Amino acid sequence: MGKIYLDNGASTKTDNKVVQAMIPYFKEMYGNASSIHKLGKDAKLAIEKSRKTIAKSLNVIPEEIVFTSGGTESNNLALKGTAFAAASMNKEKNHIITTKIEHDCVLESAKWLETQGFKVTYLDVDKEGFVLLEKLKSAITPKTLLVSIIHGNNEIGTIQDLESIGKACKKNNVLFHTDACQSFTKANLDVKKFNLDLVTLNAHKIHGPKGVGALYVKKGTIIMPWQHGGGHEFGLRSGTENVPGIVGFAKAVKIVDSNNIKEMERLRDKLIEGVLKIPESRLNGPIGKKRLCNNANFSFKKIEGESITGYLDIMGIASSTASACSSMSLEPSHVLMAIGLSREEAHGSLRITLSRYTKEEDIDKLIKKLSKVVNKLRRISPLGG
Ligand SMILES: Cc1ncc(COP(=O)(O)O)c(C=O)c1O
Repeated sequence: MGKIYLDNGASTKTDNKVVQAMIPYFKEMYGNASSIHKLGKDAKLAIEKSRKTIAKSLNVIPEEIVFTSGGTESNNLALKGTAFAAASMNKEKNHIITTKIEHDCVLESAKWLETQGFKVTYLDVDKEGFVLLEKLKSAITPKTLLVSIIHGNNEIGTIQDLESIGKACKKNNVLFHTDACQSFTKANLDVKKFNLDLVTLNAHKIHGPKGVGALYVKKGTIIMPWQHGGGHEFGLRSGTENVPGIVGFAKAVKIVDSNNIKEMERLRDKLIEGVLKIPESRLNGPIGKKRLCNNANFSFKKIEGESITGYLDIMGIASSTASACSSMSLEPSHVLMAIGLSREEAHGSLRITLSRYTKEEDIDKLIKKLSKVVNKLRRISPLGG
């Protein structure tokens, strides 16, 4: 039986065109981009070409793209780099605003910054996962240095209104960062219109390779390097560049076809409609345009999400309960708790994430199998079927 992969929020299949673009940088052009011989220059050229591609996709200039090892590193750099830079210039600037529904790498960076003397406000969200603009505005003080808010949520797909948030940040002269790992190429990300100073991207959510990403850093942004060494990437990220990864990242961006968004939305909505016919099921997060085109997240009463994903896996369908990073934890998802679910509802959650490779028959099969799995689990549930 062929495997149906519906965990694209965790990672995506690397596109064959991406793999082909990367291979020469393993086999022939394997030089270090800092070397001054021909192989080094070839590698450097490939990086700069890739930087241009990614900059163009964001409508920014190449010098504003810093390559990193992925979303986690970019988010660490954005938060810690701006916090320490701001505090070194003005000790009063010690406050960061973020939300309760960020990816763990933002939340853990923020928590660590608290241990270093910074103050962090973790904003509540409404029941669909949206930040309340008035709450954000009232949280900003003269001490605030950064607002960091995820664009498209990795668990429940909520797409934040970054334009309004960006306006509030600009008005108050506060840096604005977004984690766009899930939304990049899938939702409108207008860096200039949204007044963004920093944007986190990665490649493996868009059919690119794992272990490579970027941080957009608006020219003139006060930020310190977090990783020290040979001064690569404009001094912001030392370390020999992952040339094949960077080339693969750029290729993945180049071959994005925005027409795929509509099809993913159509399949997502078909999935939602089909799954919500299962009794005592609910959709977590919003519907329509304010939801990532490839995300659906459900809760089923009286059963555990882990059991559902386990059964589906045996049936050849890969899905997840929450984000891949937190799926090892026994704690209920912090995102689902933040939108007001009970612990029981949060434990009964299932995340289905599509990609451009998802077919209609995959969705049909999932709906059919899921209904059977839920019925079966409810029959044996100690909470009563
Ligand atoms: C929203 C979000 N931010 C950050 C990350 C971390 O990115 P990476 O896996 O490239 O470190 C992920 C991936 O799980 C993500 O979904």
